[in-house]
Amino acid sequence: MKIETDCSVLKDIGVENPSHASWDTDVLIVGSGAAGLRAALAASASANVTLITKTTLKESNTFYAQGGIAVAMNVDDTVALHVRDTCTAGCGLCDIRAVETMVSEGIPRVGELLDWGANFDWEGTLPRFTQEAAHSRRRIVHKGDATGRETTDVLVQRVLNTERIRILPNAFAVDLLTDANAPSRHDKHTCYGVTAIVEDELVCIRAKATILATGGLGRIYPCTSNPQVATGDGFAAAWRAGCEMIDMEFVQFHPTTLYLEGAPNFLISEAVRGEGGQLLNIRGERFMEKYHEKGELAPRDVVSRAIQNEMRLTGFPCVYLDITHKPANFILERFPTISDTTKRYGLDIRVDLIPVRPGAHFMMGGIRTNTDTETNLQGLYAGGEVACTGVHGANRLASNSLLECLVYGARAGTNAAVYAASQAPFHPPDGQRFSTNIGTSPELSAVGTASPSTEAAKNAIRETLWKNVGIERSSEGLQQALAQLQKIGADLGIHPYLPLSLHTTDSAFCETVNMLNVALMITQSALARMESRGAHYRADFPEQDDTDWQCRVLLTGDNSPQVIEL
Ligand code: SIN
Repeated sequence: MKIETDCSVLKDIGVENPSHASWDTDVLIVGSGAAGLRAALAASASANVTLITKTTLKESNTFYAQGGIAVAMNVDDTVALHVRDTCTAGCGLCDIRAVETMVSEGIPRVGELLDWGANFDWEGTLPRFTQEAAHSRRRIVHKGDATGRETTDVLVQRVLNTERIRILPNAFAVDLLTDANAPSRHDKHTCYGVTAIVEDELVCIRAKATILATGGLGRIYPCTSNPQVATGDGFAAAWRAGCEMIDMEFVQFHPTTLYLEGAPNFLISEAVRGEGGQLLNIRGERFMEKYHEKGELAPRDVVSRAIQNEMRLTGFPCVYLDITHKPANFILERFPTISDTTKRYGLDIRVDLIPVRPGAHFMMGGIRTNTDTETNLQGLYAGGEVACTGVHGANRLASNSLLECLVYGARAGTNAAVYAASQAPFHPPDGQRFSTNIGTSPELSAVGTASPSTEAAKNAIRETLWKNVGIERSSEGLQQALAQLQKIGADLGIHPYLPLSLHTTDSAFCETVNMLNVALMITQSALARMESRGAHYRADFPEQDDTDWQCRVLLTGDNSPQVIEL
């Protein structure tokens, strides 16, 4: 391996400028949600850490998480019960070891968050546990409806107080640095860091170990609970670098995102239904009993499809969530963020119904990892939403995502630091500019550049996915989507699976390519799974088929999905 003695690693990703700023680190973490922050804290116990993030340290899906953190700490709760509920929600596809690890290690991870000052709601000597759908116990610790903000604040403060963690905001990670001279993209078997756009320049950040904690991809759909940064960048970069991707057909749609003229995408937490909120159609009829015995607290996919059906039946673009029967003080105290946000748009949730409809919320699939967070690239680890240990199966249980981030973020940090310690120092050393002299690869002519059509392409991807790769899918619709996505790629002048680096330092263009990459992965995986399970619903195969489909869809090098046994 040449990496210790030269920079030929850059050749493989097509860097053609003669010199680039670079810096080196033991452990590089990409992403600053709960998984990235927790990984940084764990890795910094024994390694120098660089944490880069797309915008600011706090801008992530974690920050906007409302519901809470599921943890088996209540007096009537057990690890076994939480494991059972998680696996039931996952519809037979959960990796039981990954679930047991998350649920059991989640208890000390949440415990230390409390020790570090997390000011969750409290009742007597215990956190005030709330109820969410498909949990058999009240086990959600929370801070009103702003649990993500509280969790972020605690972790960020700790990261800022840790000397060994260097933070680089506004750094858009473009591609992974992988071995040079590999004959094909899937022979690249070691990761050495990333290329990133920083202040409109390309930089190379070399790392002995790299952790992807880039979060989700909700923004590839027009309706979503996710913030603007969630465009699937980590999934796409990993895929282009040869990572195995798994379970990509399973996108969770949250039943209740705000639907108000002029208001931004905004989640109305499931906790509103957990506290007794009722769903009504435009005729004022409560409808969930028709669809599931658990009513409003049925699994998210069931509630989302039911809402979509009511919207279809009534010809109205939303349904309503009603919490007005609860005492006004309770509503304000329990849901301050939702109250404040809706108030800005003229809605008082103490007396008004909340207009809602489903939106893309969470990706169950991602970069395939084991419970040590290792990927198939040596030196590359992944944690949180971008990773897939199999902990969520075909559908994630409410409030298990922050738990996953804390547990697998910490694991990624620890394991990456151990790996980094076993690696030789970089050459040339830190801080130097270094040269590459690599000529042009024929592949690179296939890479396009930024253009005014970028925004239009993003919207076309979103519309395509919403129409045919959303809550309900079918073979015909998925085939149409595939053709449309391929055409969008051709119009952009890109080859979807080649490294993006580096004909552009336009992050909007990179985002567009990333969105297209993940859209293709989801569509191909959804076409492959010819049954309905969890969040993946095929109108042409409406039943769960445990005879032929209790297995997982894996995307590897040749772009054709493979089906693998559990
Ligand atoms: C919510 O508050 O409804 C979201 C919680 C989650 O996705 O786990």
